[in-house]
Amino acid sequence: MKVCVVGASGKLGQYLVRHALDRGYEVVGVCREKSVPKLAAVADRITIVPGPTNDREVIGAAVAGCDGVLSVLVPWGVQQYSSGTAQAVLDLAEPDARLVFSCGWHISRDGQDRYSWRFRTALRVAARVGKLLRAVEIDDQDEACRRIFASDRRWTVVRGSDLEEGDSQGLPVWSWHVGDPVLESNLTRRTDFALFMIEALTDDSLVREAPAIVGRTTPSARAHAAA
Ligand SMILES: NC(=O)c1ccc[n+]([C@@H]2O[C@H](COP(=O)([O-])OP(=O)(O)OC[C@H]3O[C@@H](n4cnc5c(N)ncnc54)[C@H](OP(=O)(O)O)[C@@H]3O)[C@@H](O)[C@H]2O)c1
Repeated sequence: MKVCVVGASGKLGQYLVRHALDRGYEVVGVCREKSVPKLAAVADRITIVPGPTNDREVIGAAVAGCDGVLSVLVPWGVQQYSSGTAQAVLDLAEPDARLVFSCGWHISRDGQDRYSWRFRTALRVAARVGKLLRAVEIDDQDEACRRIFASDRRWTVVRGSDLEEGDSQGLPVWSWHVGDPVLESNLTRRTDFALFMIEALTDDSLVREAPAIVGRTTPSARAHAAA
């Protein structure tokens, strides 16, 4: 299995690289030129393609021959970074490649997710302030996901809860909609978010699904398992 990690130098990306190497996969990593040193620990075991993840030439070179593409979607700046990244992967990955994308719970595929008042307010404030400062463009992550959902590619969009660092607690559990009781704890270890994305590469039941995940040892996940 040859996989490409788009956004390999970030926190989630580095976990993705490590899990992929642990499974014996051949890994190609894409990251900004200035972030290449962050991958020094694995530089002799992976191929690094430096460049912006929304650059079609960079993505084209990186995904060639890959069976799977794991993309960290981030809405940095006001440059359509997420949608540009997603579009390049959708257009340029091998025809049968498994495409797995990361995003947050705020993305809704079918409008059936139920968000708390606090969640919606925080999101609205972050979106406004982010845009005002020209730092992040949260609605571009929505646009990226709209394009993925409309695609007939073999995609999975993994929607992460709040994240924390720490040792793995195992594969997160998931549900279709935010607001489902199993997800109530709203916390996942970042390493396990990456684990779920790696597992999705070989789990055909997740093709064209947008699972919302939560840590498997959180109180809500345990309560659900007990029930
Ligand atoms: N943070 C959370 O609590 C949270 C919650 C739910 C879901 N998620 C999702 O999890 C994924 C990873 O998010 P994360 O917050 O954990 O961050 P992360 O893994 O550290 O990833 C951040 C990515 O953004 C890149 N980046 C940073 N500044 C940039 C800039 N100015 N221009 C272009 N790229 C830039 C980083 O690349 P460099 O290495 O080059 O800086 C890195 O690839 C995202 O898809 C996010 O939507 C996060």
